Amino acid sequence: MSFKSLFRKKSTTVILSQGGDGEHTSLNKVLSVRDLTFFGIAAIIGGGTFSAIGNACFSGGPGVILLYIICAIACGFTAMCYAEFAARVPVSGSAYTYAYVSFGELFAWIIGWALLMEYSIGNIYIAFSWSGYFTNLLDGFGMHLPEWLTINYKASHLAFNDAKIGEGLTAWNTAPQIGGLRIIFDLPAVLVNVFITWLVYKGTKESRNISNLMVTIKLAVIVLIIVVGLFYIDIENWTPFMPNGFGGVMAGVSAVFFAYIGFDAVSTLAEECKNPQRDLPRGMIYSLIICTIVYIILALVLTGMVSYSLLGVTDPLAEIFKIKGVKWMMFIVSIAAVVAMTSVLIVFQMGQPRIWMTMSRDGLLPKRFSSIHPKYKTPGFATIITGFVVGVPMFFTDENFILDFTSIGTLFAFVLVCGGVLMLPAQKKDENSEETKGKFRMPYINAKWIFPAIILVAFTSVFYFIPDFFSSKFTFTSDTIGGNLPMLVFFILCIVIAVLSFTKKLSLIPVLGLISCCYLLTGMAPSNWIWFSIWLAVGLVVYFLYSYKNSNLAKNKE
Ligand code: ALA
Repeated sequence: MSFKSLFRKKSTTVILSQGGDGEHTSLNKVLSVRDLTFFGIAAIIGGGTFSAIGNACFSGGPGVILLYIICAIACGFTAMCYAEFAARVPVSGSAYTYAYVSFGELFAWIIGWALLMEYSIGNIYIAFSWSGYFTNLLDGFGMHLPEWLTINYKASHLAFNDAKIGEGLTAWNTAPQIGGLRIIFDLPAVLVNVFITWLVYKGTKESRNISNLMVTIKLAVIVLIIVVGLFYIDIENWTPFMPNGFGGVMAGVSAVFFAYIGFDAVSTLAEECKNPQRDLPRGMIYSLIICTIVYIILALVLTGMVSYSLLGVTDPLAEIFKIKGVKWMMFIVSIAAVVAMTSVLIVFQMGQPRIWMTMSRDGLLPKRFSSIHPKYKTPGFATIITGFVVGVPMFFTDENFILDFTSIGTLFAFVLVCGGVLMLPAQKKDENSEETKGKFRMPYINAKWIFPAIILVAFTSVFYFIPDFFSSKFTFTSDTIGGNLPMLVFFILCIVIAVLSFTKKLSLIPVLGLISCCYLLTGMAPSNWIWFSIWLAVGLVVYFLYSYKNSNLAKNKE
């Protein structure tokens, strides 16, 4: 094994000949720009909006709006990078494929492994949240499932250990036992995963139709929440703006960032688009813009309606109307939440098998992962395996762990995508040439002076406005090292990128994407970093034991 071979790259010409040019793929080519935008919205607005937003508001107060804006900026820059990549490498595989052409095989593998956390592990969180709202709805209709069938084992065990009165403790105390083991699992979450797997297995067209309908319902209801909510806003609730300081705001980073995840899932559908090079970037950017506007307004309404301290619940959008006594809205919100989260589940459950399919075509996974179902034209085997990867951990884990794990993995993938764009060769300038006509092109803004100036202004402002920032962040004791180390690394990175921007005249947009995603990563707790490192280590073992040897590039097939 040579060091150089770890960074062997796939050429874009080969990738195009495998499906991006529309000649060599057997998937149905049915998706238009409108479908793609709908897919984007379907993936973005889900568990993050209906569930995780509650805890983010609880820890950050109304100031959580800042975090929504910061995340929107980070995702906006990253979307531009995705779009640039998608226009150049229009095949399935998302960030994985992009990394393969820019960083080489080892990084591609790492990113594919990290994306597993975004798509499959992310779906576990959404299925748990889905189950919460679905159970509420059933209760509304007078159908009550026993607690031990509506909560995951770990959450119930934690509730028992902490003697926390509520659903978890009730489940622990009432669960049937087999050989001393309590039978506690989230039945609706398990069942919705089985249903979605079946739907996605059956085919893109069917899934698309359902997804479009769900997005329409979801957006209509969110507009209704905003309009009705406006009548209940009390601006007193916006003070204090950051009751727990900026640290409290940043504590919600996993939850807020999770709400934005999804726009990138659009790029995994490249092989099913009518015109991927033109429509894919548009679909991604349109959906992100629409969702960002919705989020900012929604966050303002939510934090304006009630005190932040009442929002630490798993169903905050229903809770605000409950507090205000608007019962009919509670019911509508619960239905919308179930619909919204179902559409997110579909998109992610479609994305994961398509990434595996591409990795399998490259020889990094066994061939079965790229087998296409003869009738349904979907990656059947990979779809079923995805169902298991989402379904099995539901029996062993809880939603908070999953939320952090998903966000850190996705941010990591985004950082590599932005870095990858910086390493792509410059595109030809000729706007009217056949090669560049109709494709997305990211505007090149020279970062030479601008980025170092931004860093200088940012550092000076922090020093001036938060005088004890540096002394508190850069004090390393056994208690603070875990929390402060990422910030130190971030500061060093800012300086390195500023120097590189100056010397190499880097493109400003990917530079800002890279830095803003790295900044969000500094908000992750030390325990997340440990779990993430273990996850990457396992991935590397798999790579060296299987993928390195079986890669098409190793066998000189390409
Ligand atoms: N953004 C998606 C959601 O909030 C993952 O459910």
